[in-house]
Amino acid sequence: MTFASALPYINGVKHLGNLAGSLLPADVYARFLRLEGEDVLFICATDEHGTPAELSAADAGLSVKDYCDRMHHKQAEIYNQFGLSFDYFGRSSSPQNRAMTQHFYQKLNENGFLIERTVQQFYSIDDKRFLPDRYVIGTCPKCGYTAARGDQCEQCTSLLDPTELINPRSAVSGTTNLQVRGTKHLFLRLDALAEEIRVWVDNHQAVWPRLTSSISYKWLDEGLQERGITRDLDWGIPVPRPGFDGKVFYVWFDAPIEYISATVEWADEDAATRDWKSWWLDTSDVTYSQFLAKDNVPFHTVFWPGVVLGTRESWLMADQIKSFSWLTYYGGKFSTSSKRGVFLDQALGLRPADEWRYFLLAQSPESDDSSFTWEAFASAVNKDLVGAFGNFVSRILKLSEKEFGDEIPTGGVTTDSEDDLMEECSRVVGSYRSHLQRTEYRKAIQSLRELWSAGNAYIDKTAPWSLMKQDRDRAAVILRISINLVRLFAAAAWPVIPFASERVFDALGLSEDERRVELSQLVGLMDLQAGRKFAAPGHLFTRISDDNIAAWKQQFVGGGSI
Ligand code: 2FM
Ligand code: ZN
Repeated sequence: MTFASALPYINGVKHLGNLAGSLLPADVYARFLRLEGEDVLFICATDEHGTPAELSAADAGLSVKDYCDRMHHKQAEIYNQFGLSFDYFGRSSSPQNRAMTQHFYQKLNENGFLIERTVQQFYSIDDKRFLPDRYVIGTCPKCGYTAARGDQCEQCTSLLDPTELINPRSAVSGTTNLQVRGTKHLFLRLDALAEEIRVWVDNHQAVWPRLTSSISYKWLDEGLQERGITRDLDWGIPVPRPGFDGKVFYVWFDAPIEYISATVEWADEDAATRDWKSWWLDTSDVTYSQFLAKDNVPFHTVFWPGVVLGTRESWLMADQIKSFSWLTYYGGKFSTSSKRGVFLDQALGLRPADEWRYFLLAQSPESDDSSFTWEAFASAVNKDLVGAFGNFVSRILKLSEKEFGDEIPTGGVTTDSEDDLMEECSRVVGSYRSHLQRTEYRKAIQSLRELWSAGNAYIDKTAPWSLMKQDRDRAAVILRISINLVRLFAAAAWPVIPFASERVFDALGLSEDERRVELSQLVGLMDLQAGRKFAAPGHLFTRISDDNIAAWKQQFVGGGSI
């Protein structure tokens, strides 16, 4: 199994929407498949080229290279704190990606899928450079917004060509001393590849979510046009072609190639044992899944497959493409530029990673947009993590410790109540597993909740605390079963809330093998026997108060009125 989450742009710390819409679901799936015993390669990387990287570096007063070095390490650190278990976190600015991108270019060129054209573009006489895409700012011809970008007006969302802007100026220096000049670029003949791309989509769409197929067909049905794959920029991968000095590949050309190149980076770190080709070429036994937000769908179902097909080489192409709608902040867009919403470093400063992971999966924007609100976040944490899971663990382990000491209690025999409970757990874990297999996150979280409720219902019904005097053996067997449930609940939840699960495993003194059990085996196991030592952990989760909610709403703009 190989798979990847969309590669986050380098320009700045990402927000909760990015985590919910690609990184986190990919991680949960990776963890789940590892539990299932699959050989998994989970790849991610920073997407480092393009105008946003250059502009952000200029804002930060750094060279683009220094800016990217810094941001790559910062992003890596944050993803690590969120428990994202990448096998490798690469960089699209790596030498491996330069070589691979130039290889893809050569193949497309040999096969006649590239064409040179001269296009009219702004040239800034004062800055001595062409101004692609976002480098030109001006007044929107559609709505009159005075700071519209060359590629799109942020106010009315119209897609623009920079030459349409009224009073255009340079985003680099503000100069209006601009000329329209002809400049040579390379175009990918997507029109010539359209039929092959459609056949590939037809053959795959049955397993894709509806969101993925509907966006793909919309693009295909509108008809594919040639698409520019080079830019007049310094920062990027040079185009190895006469007459193309000072030009680089378009960021969306080299970014998906980095999925492969990151695997090469990974293999280069340990050439004796790792073989990147077995993951991307000669791959009859590899399944490939991608996780991405809906604005990335056309690039992954049309543009990138077009590039791959055009090489006439046997690169692995995606099987599953799981796409997500938007996570909104109180119904509005999360926005990096207007600092609206919650950024990942801020989130970690407020609450532990597991709480965010759990909530963002419970509210996953799987088919429709989903709104982040502090109220819903608090309710999921308080009801499910503190109330259902955390309480069960601490009630059981504390009670057992108090009444029977630090060993799993001995004595008693199981009854129909325990048989019923096991049947219920086995049904719920079965559905949980199949939801994870299908990457249906909201349903998977519902199953977890159901599983935890079954445990709470069992101890409410059997009330071991009231049996200590008159039927100590019965209390012992209930607690023994319940301690096994603690293990079952934590092990099932591990792909979702790995940090809390590991704390529970520590408390139960589990070995590495005992921590990683296939979900299908889990219920049958119940193998933590009487006499085994454990130690009740402190609180796994803590409640979020109304005061917390009020303070956060004030701290983060756009969070509704308080
Ligand atoms: O939308 C984004 O965040 C892009 N950086 C995703 C790139 S995915 C892949 F193709 F590299
Ligand atoms: Zn506009």
